[in-house]
Amino acid sequence: MAAPRPLLLVGGGGLAREVLAAVRLLPERWRPIGALDDDPARHGALLDGLPVLGGADVLADHPDAAVVVCVANATRPLGRLAVVRRLALPRERFATVVHPAASIAAGAEPGAGTVLLAGVVVTTPLRLGDHVVAMPHVLVTHDDEVGDGVTLAGRASLGGGVVVGSGAYLGQGSAVREQVAIGAGAVVGMGSVVLTDVPPEEVWAGVPARRIGHREGNAS
Ligand SMILES: CC(C)(COP(=O)(O)OP(=O)(O)OC[C@H]1O[C@@H](n2cnc3c(N)ncnc32)[C@H](O)[C@@H]1OP(=O)(O)O)[C@@H](O)C(=O)NCCC(=O)NCCS
Repeated sequence: MAAPRPLLLVGGGGLAREVLAAVRLLPERWRPIGALDDDPARHGALLDGLPVLGGADVLADHPDAAVVVCVANATRPLGRLAVVRRLALPRERFATVVHPAASIAAGAEPGAGTVLLAGVVVTTPLRLGDHVVAMPHVLVTHDDEVGDGVTLAGRASLGGGVVVGSGAYLGQGSAVREQVAIGAGAVVGMGSVVLTDVPPEEVWAGVPARRIGHREGNAS
């Protein structure tokens, strides 16, 4: 069997800690060696026992390490993709982390840099992109298309044939009706029930979900 691959986590917040907990359950596959954080005040600290080695410049010291970007924020839904762009690494450097308690149907191929946490169920989607984060108990079902950099907070659930555009953020416990499209960079509030298409970069919330705002210049 191949030796576990060294792994660097980019980010020092709650998601990084959750990803760390997941990879520690897979010691035959991953050997976490450190976290990277832009905040110099964190350098040298420990993240649940894992050293914060420094900023992105540390990547050059570990050319063989896989990398996973652990950043997710409803106020900056495109933030993770912005970090990925800044790192400018080849796609094969990014780790796909699947918690052992996730249920992923054979043939559903999560993309590079994608994280699927405990209790995530993925049945038969058409696509599960790169740098997707699915927090605990997310449900992705038949014919869904989940774009790059999408964040699905805990218990978000997609009906069949849902299309989620790149960098969209679905809040915890939100539900999306079958065949509905969520635009790129859009945000859906926690607990919302989405019955109609959400245009790109708009913020929708409620039951049924309605537009509550728009993210101007939502580049990152
Ligand atoms: C949708 C969201 C991004 C809006 O945040 P915001 O832009 O700061 O908006 P505000 O909190 O100022 O709320 C604006 C209005 O929308 C309403 N609203 C906000 N979120 C709502 C929600 N999820 N459902 C229903 N209404 C909501 C507020 O009550 C407020 O209404 P009002 O103007 O009548 O008082 C945020 O509430 C949200 O749901 N974030 C996701 C949280 C989440 O899933 N976290 C997971 C962490 S792991």
